[in-house]
Amino acid sequence: VAKTVRSPIPLEEFAASTLDPSEAIGLPPAVYTDAEFHEFEIDAIFRSRWHCVGRVEMIPEPGDFFTTTLMDREPVIVSRTSTGSVNVMTSVCQHRAMCITAPVQRPRAEWFEPPPDVKGNTRTFRCPYHWWTYDLDGRLLGAPSMDRTVGFAKADHALPRLRVEEWCGFIFANLDAEARPLREGTHKLDAVLSTYRLNEWVTQAPEVIRDVPFNWKIMVENFMESYHNYGLHNALLSMEAYGEGNAGDAGKRLPFEPGDDVIFGVGRSNVPDAAVNATQRAFFAPLPTLTVDERQNVIFAWVAPTLLLGVFSDSAFWFTVEPTGPSAHTLSMGYMFPAGADDNKLFPALLERYGKGIELFNNQDLPADVAIQVGMRSQFAPRGRMSHLESFLPKFNSWLLACYRAAQGVPVG
Ligand code: FES
Ligand SMILES: [Fe+2]
Repeated sequence: VAKTVRSPIPLEEFAASTLDPSEAIGLPPAVYTDAEFHEFEIDAIFRSRWHCVGRVEMIPEPGDFFTTTLMDREPVIVSRTSTGSVNVMTSVCQHRAMCITAPVQRPRAEWFEPPPDVKGNTRTFRCPYHWWTYDLDGRLLGAPSMDRTVGFAKADHALPRLRVEEWCGFIFANLDAEARPLREGTHKLDAVLSTYRLNEWVTQAPEVIRDVPFNWKIMVENFMESYHNYGLHNALLSMEAYGEGNAGDAGKRLPFEPGDDVIFGVGRSNVPDAAVNATQRAFFAPLPTLTVDERQNVIFAWVAPTLLLGVFSDSAFWFTVEPTGPSAHTLSMGYMFPAGADDNKLFPALLERYGKGIELFNNQDLPADVAIQVGMRSQFAPRGRMSHLESFLPKFNSWLLACYRAAQGVPVG
């Protein structure tokens, strides 16, 4: 039985944010700013749900690993074990809690920095503090000078492991041993994505930005609602080429129902092979398995709570949002392409242009998100009315409220 946690904002206040967009109002601004509410949300959502931590091709060989941190408080190691499976385990040493991937020494300028993320290939992890040594599965292999410690058995001190699932080539980890499988909440999106075989796509090493100064929900909302394409991105988007591929509300196409852990839309561009760049057309060859009609599909998806995914006929881009505080998160940004796309000699040059194309949008979206965070702190922050082009928002709010209610033991429905 999960412990009961309580929202500092009465949950009755959220219902008005879950109505049809013609009736709904925005969430209470405090959900983007309040430290106590942030802790509630960590307990109500993030401790028991699937965090996207990266892609399988980031650790292709046994022994490959990288580190990351969940919720600014759970440092983990993501690795490929000797048997080829993906393992996610804590990096907190089971002796005296040192981070086992921390450096042995650091220059003065870094003394008080948290341990940096690291990646590499190894057979074991040795804690720098007293040299307890663990294998890729977290088993404690060695613990020097513990032979006089009564009843000490290495088997009792393995690094705790998280639950792991792979989905479309993304690695997901969950701290809750009782959580329901990720796939139980993603099947509607699975049906739409199956022809893309995204598990075979290859990601360019994602860029990770710590301490991005806005709440994780602002990033999700901005990625998924398309109303701002008419405003903020007006100068970048030609609606003639794009049609509803991006200009339409990415959330409106498919209903969101209780139990869904994805909200997504399949937009339609007016021409095949639309793209997010100044030419609005794809740089790379379209996936050969797509029909001409399917090449007009543009998919925007949120896989609750941390993965954002935009899928085009030749490429996809993705973000993960890992909350680190009421008004901050760690943002990862990656692009991915069908396997073999990088055989093209022009690939490096095209990739650079591709990145610049997406950056045109980031140059507008990310500063806008920062400005929204500023506004949410104001005593004049609204619970604003919505356009029909923001129909993602009430669905998102419904998902959030279901989590908040479940955490407080309120029966669903
Ligand atoms: S804290 Fe890791 S070996 Fe002591
Ligand atoms: Fe945008």
